[in-house]
Amino acid sequence: MQSDEIRSKFLKFFESRGHKIIPSASLVPENDPSVLFTTAGMHPLVPYLMGEKHPLGKRLVNIQKCIRTGDIDEVGDYSHHTFFEMLGNWSLGDYFKKEVIEWSYEFLTSPEWLGLDKNRIAVSVFEGDPDSPFDDEAFEIWKSLGIDEKRIARLPKKNNWWGPAGVTGPCGPDTEMFYWVGDPKKIPETFNDDSPLWLEIWNDVFMQYDKNKDGKFEPLSQKNVDTGMGLERTLAVVNGLDDNYKSELFWPIIKKIEELSGKKYEDEKKAMRIIADHVKASTFILGDEKGIAPSNTGQGYVLRRLIRRAVRYGKQLGIKSFTGEIAKIIIDIYKNTYPELSSNKDFILKNLLEEGEKFEITLEHGLKEFEKGVDAFTLFTTYGFPVELTLELAREKSQTIDMEDFNKKMTEHQKLSQTSSAGMFKGGLADAGEETKKLHTATHLLRQALEDVLGEKIVQRGSNITAERLRFDFAFPRKVTDEERKKVEDIVNEKIQMKLPMQKVVMKREDAEKTGAEHVFGDKYGDEVSIYFVGNSLEDAYSKEFCGGPHVKNTGELGKFKIIKEEAVAQGIRRIKAVLL
Ligand code: ALA
Repeated sequence: MQSDEIRSKFLKFFESRGHKIIPSASLVPENDPSVLFTTAGMHPLVPYLMGEKHPLGKRLVNIQKCIRTGDIDEVGDYSHHTFFEMLGNWSLGDYFKKEVIEWSYEFLTSPEWLGLDKNRIAVSVFEGDPDSPFDDEAFEIWKSLGIDEKRIARLPKKNNWWGPAGVTGPCGPDTEMFYWVGDPKKIPETFNDDSPLWLEIWNDVFMQYDKNKDGKFEPLSQKNVDTGMGLERTLAVVNGLDDNYKSELFWPIIKKIEELSGKKYEDEKKAMRIIADHVKASTFILGDEKGIAPSNTGQGYVLRRLIRRAVRYGKQLGIKSFTGEIAKIIIDIYKNTYPELSSNKDFILKNLLEEGEKFEITLEHGLKEFEKGVDAFTLFTTYGFPVELTLELAREKSQTIDMEDFNKKMTEHQKLSQTSSAGMFKGGLADAGEETKKLHTATHLLRQALEDVLGEKIVQRGSNITAERLRFDFAFPRKVTDEERKKVEDIVNEKIQMKLPMQKVVMKREDAEKTGAEHVFGDKYGDEVSIYFVGNSLEDAYSKEFCGGPHVKNTGELGKFKIIKEEAVAQGIRRIKAVLL
């Protein structure tokens, strides 16, 4: 079975059960300060999972392109990827456990759909803890479908709980489906979640809680279902493969790497898999409509790290300037499903080439210095040699790196642009929740201050926040002068010094519109909306906007606001980058 057939079967199955198809969103989340990339299909749906009405109704289905960097250390095995496609269906306060579990099982096993072997399926359910009880409902539904109890594991939050995707937001217990990819003659009777031969292929999440800022799990106003099935894994198991890289979504890439390097996949699995995975993820990031290029912050930094890591494994295989050749194969594999790759082909190839060649030189120098025993900090500052790479090299040679020393030196070294810190790549923004919240609140102050200074309505055209800076795009026909820029900074800093509360009210959309709170016109909002306002009351608030949060509680938490750049991004669109010191 080809990937196209799985994609269309999935959509058709859920369409015939009342779901409306929605398109894949961009890999770069819009207005979401909590994550760098879309990591699951539920991401763009957060407001609807929280209770807003979706214009297409309560049942949705799609195929979402995703990037996850949290599993980067796993990439290189047979089943983990940085870029992957997620097949998902959603109930927004509509059907719940019984329907979704039965449908999942039917889709997986019915000969009309995927026709997987029932005897190779195992599942897990949430065992319960003080936040939420044992999921006996899911357990009983699986039993009623004929799954033996030995094949139903009860696991803790670490395994059977999904979300929130950011710091706060919708989450809940889940039930996961696994497929035995080992020897078909030796299928174990009992499911063991430690065995990599039981491959997780699908996750049904029962999203019924909102994790709030204090870490408490509050019941949501509605019970949702959020599911995610990994296309690459499903494609492999449906075709009886025990290695995702042997499927049509990877094999032509591997063949190309074999051809370029003159080496065999069987001998160089890890390096070839990492190259295939990272170049694919880079191609999709560069090919995304948002036009991300390699840089030292945010998404651009992740992209840079992916390209560089691919180049380093290329060096191990003895190949150079190869990423473009591989990207062409990738574009070819996906050209019908993701036409944006073809339309952005030049941009993709140009950036891969430039970043790759730059790094090849760095790598030459850095590797030599590493061999001589130069420390991680010097390697980074003098040779641009990323610390993640130093760590990886050290691991391979069973050496250790003094990270405490490295971090201490780094902190001293960089006050303003903390752009290349080690944590960024691995954990996304997990530890940076507070920083992004502050910058999000600062973004609201900035928009209002711009309106005050420029004397006209300032409409947001884009917002993007990383742990280090905010980026705010708005419609305005000319450059903001230095004097105006200074005034904007002064106003924001004054509001910070006034220690104003940031508060939230939820109200009917019509009433909310009457408050004059800033919002974008269109179908984006539901009947009930939340407004975040800065000030003691909504009436005399300094800033008020329709917004899903999260924000800090008081502007006094922000520190000092500074604009670091003002530039044009397109005709009539200005971009401001700012930091909090
Ligand atoms: N959001 C769930 C996941 O990513 C379905 O596994």
